[in-house]
Formats: sequence, structure tokens, C-alpha cells
Amino acid sequence: MAVPTFPQAAFAQDITIEAKPSTAQLVPAEYGQTGVWAYDGMVPGTPLRLQQGERLRRVLVNRLDQPTTIHWHGIRLENAMDGAAGLTQEAVAPGGQFSYDFVAKDAGTYWYHPHRNSLEQVARGLSGPLIVEEHEAPDVDEDLTLLIQDWRLDQEAQIVADFANMHDMAHAGRIGNHLTVNGLPEFRTPAKTGQRLRLRIINAASDRILRLGAKGLTGYVVALDGMPLQKPEALTEIVLAPAQRADLFADIAAEPGETAHLTSIERQGTFSLAAFSVSGRDGTTLRPAPQSLPPNPVAVPSLKNARTLELVMEGGAMGRMAAARTADGKTRSMRELIGQGMAWAFNGVAGMPDRPLADLDLGEEVRMLLSNQTAWPHAMHLHGHHFQEVKDKTPGPLRDTILVMPQEKREIVFVADNPGKWMFHCHMLSHQAAGMMSWVNVIS
Ligand code: C2O
Ligand code: CU
Repeated sequence: MAVPTFPQAAFAQDITIEAKPSTAQLVPAEYGQTGVWAYDGMVPGTPLRLQQGERLRRVLVNRLDQPTTIHWHGIRLENAMDGAAGLTQEAVAPGGQFSYDFVAKDAGTYWYHPHRNSLEQVARGLSGPLIVEEHEAPDVDEDLTLLIQDWRLDQEAQIVADFANMHDMAHAGRIGNHLTVNGLPEFRTPAKTGQRLRLRIINAASDRILRLGAKGLTGYVVALDGMPLQKPEALTEIVLAPAQRADLFADIAAEPGETAHLTSIERQGTFSLAAFSVSGRDGTTLRPAPQSLPPNPVAVPSLKNARTLELVMEGGAMGRMAAARTADGKTRSMRELIGQGMAWAFNGVAGMPDRPLADLDLGEEVRMLLSNQTAWPHAMHLHGHHFQEVKDKTPGPLRDTILVMPQEKREIVFVADNPGKWMFHCHMLSHQAAGMMSWVNVIS
């Protein structure tokens, strides 16, 4: 695909974000430190916080030995700032830099990560939280961001560098063997009975789906993928696909001397992800259910004149895909595709197509039918827009990433009101690398 060039003048005194090799204490100290790639040398990267409507300016400085970019996941921004290497900008070469500059229109919990060789770069540690505060702070005692990463570590606690592993790519992706919250081997924080915490949970794993639960907490889900729910929902269990976020209001119900937990529910059992050591009491009764957060200015479709697009997902292990076209237009057998590191296709095309899924008119309403004809779940992410899932003719919460289970058919709707070239891909980064990529073109 032809890559346009984007001339850039650097801002005078801008704050940088450096992507560079570093070390982090991801496992208990007796096992030593892990070599990582990290923003500003920190895992997770510098937490970025701004007010809704504020401008964020950061100069990415690439101190890696390979090209990179930053994608501001979930932010509805100008196309040129989206960080999609090869589509909205050229990747930043080693030693190079790129100035990002955008206004955060929506409040909520977002994150940033590379969008070039994302599988390796995210799995090695490059990601950070991006928090956009509401104009009026909601009534909580604490506001905590919990960014969850999934690491595949060897005996020496070093990252296993098997990123081009076709077995992973054609199955569930790169599933690690060590989860961290905010880069820590164990996340623990003091709390009091009756306190209300806002927990901003970010699944920054390359491929792992998280199933979260709560113990000793009365939780309410107040936002998903940054966007407030119209009505907060009581938390029982929540599934977060890679890249998805959930904002919880969690009231500490555990008694002084006890520990409350945010848990990860796994096949082998239920594990503590974050522990809240309760000492003392704050008030005598639990608070009433929370109010909803103020809505963000996202256009919602009327569902009357929507244009219908279809996206068929095929391939992977135990699938029926026999062949697919590659970027050069040639049809290749599954065996040839695997030889090229490809295992999946959207509408018969493996890898980033030259032509978009559709050219959309600015403001056009789009209804997209997602048909997962594979044996694996996929976390479909649209750039530059939030969409709603339609179930029984009723549009649900705004999301930027939707988990589509094997053999499922799902329907999403959105207003294409942001001009430019926007990627639509699977956020299981192994699947993305192995072909699950496309884009739409919104023409102004
Ligand atoms: Cu979180 Cu295309 O990315
Ligand atoms: Cu996938």
C-alpha cells in the first residue's frame, strides 16, 4: 500500500514520551527483573490524565531498534493523530520522533499503545493509561486505574520472544503465564469499609480475555470502553476482551481486618488481581447505587437509513478456510498463507487490504454484520468511532471493541462522522498480525 508522507514541525517545548528498552520488577524480587520495552522506562507507561475538552500534546521519541507509533485507543480524534502505521502516518524510525496533538472530546478510560508490530511491542510492555476526567468529578473516595498485562516469561523471568509462533496465531493467540496489575507482581492497597472506589480497569493483554469478579466489594459497572452506561449495572462478573475497559464503582463491603478482591476467574480457579486490605470504617452504611456518569457527545444512529456492510471472519485452526487473497491480490492456499505468517481473513482477504471495506459518506449511518465463521473468539475494534451493538432491534452501550464468540453473528451500528481512514481489526494482536485487519474510509 502506498504510504503518504506527513511533514511535521516539532512543537517548541513539548513533553516527550520515549519508547525504549528498560527493566521492570514484574515478579517477586527474588526472581529478578524482566527486560521490557516501555514508555518512559515504566510499566505501564506514564499515566496521562487530562480534563474532557483539553488538548494532549506529546512527542513520541523512538528509542527502540524498530519503527513504532502511538495509537490512542478509543479516542475519537483527528485521523492524522491516530497512529495507525501505514494508514494514517509513516511509522517512526528508530531515533525519530512524531508529535501527537489532539483534543479529548470524551471523558472516560482509554489507553495508548503502539500500532506497528503491535503484537511484539505490546507483549514486551508498551502500553499506558489515558484518563479523561469528567468536568465534574463523581462522588468517589478514590480513583484507581488498574492496567492489566499478560506476560509470557521463562524460568529467568525474561520475555519469551516467540512472537511469530504460528500455533498461537492460528489459535487463541499469545496467552502468557503471568498477569500484572500496574506492572506489579501483587497489587495491594489500603481501604476502609464503606468506601467507594472508582476502578478503571484496562485489559492491555495482547490476546487474553479476562473474566473478572469481585469478593468483599459491591460493584457497579458505570462505563464500558470509556463510555458511560445509561444506567449503572450491578457487577457480578465481567468479561473484558483485549483492549476493552470497564469503569466500576466498587464499595468496600469487607469488614475491617478482611481483604476485598478484584478477581480473575480462570479455568484453574479464581485468583486475586487486586487486593484491598481493609482497616477501619468509613461511614456506617453502604452507599446507594450510583448515578450514571454524564454522557459523552457521541452521535447515535437513528437506525432508519443505515447502510449495511458485512464482515465475515474466517480461518484459524479448526476452521474451514481453504484459501484467501493476500495484499498482492493473489489467491493462496491455507498452507501458503501459513508460510507467509497468515492464518485469518476478513471477507476472503488476509492482511491489510489496499482498498477499504467501504467508502462511507461523512455522517452516514452504518450497520455492520459481523459473522464469526471461525472456532475462536475475536475482539473487533473500530478506530475513531464508538459503535452500539444491536440486539433484538435495541441498541446497547457504546463500545469501541466487541468480543464476538465462535460461530456468532453480531450487529453493530455507528455514525461515520469522523473523516479519514480508520482501521477495523481484531485486537487479539496475534490474530491481527496473522491477517485480521481491514479499514473503512470516511470521505468528507
Ligand atoms: Cu488498540 Cu487498532 O488498536
Ligand atoms: Cu481474533
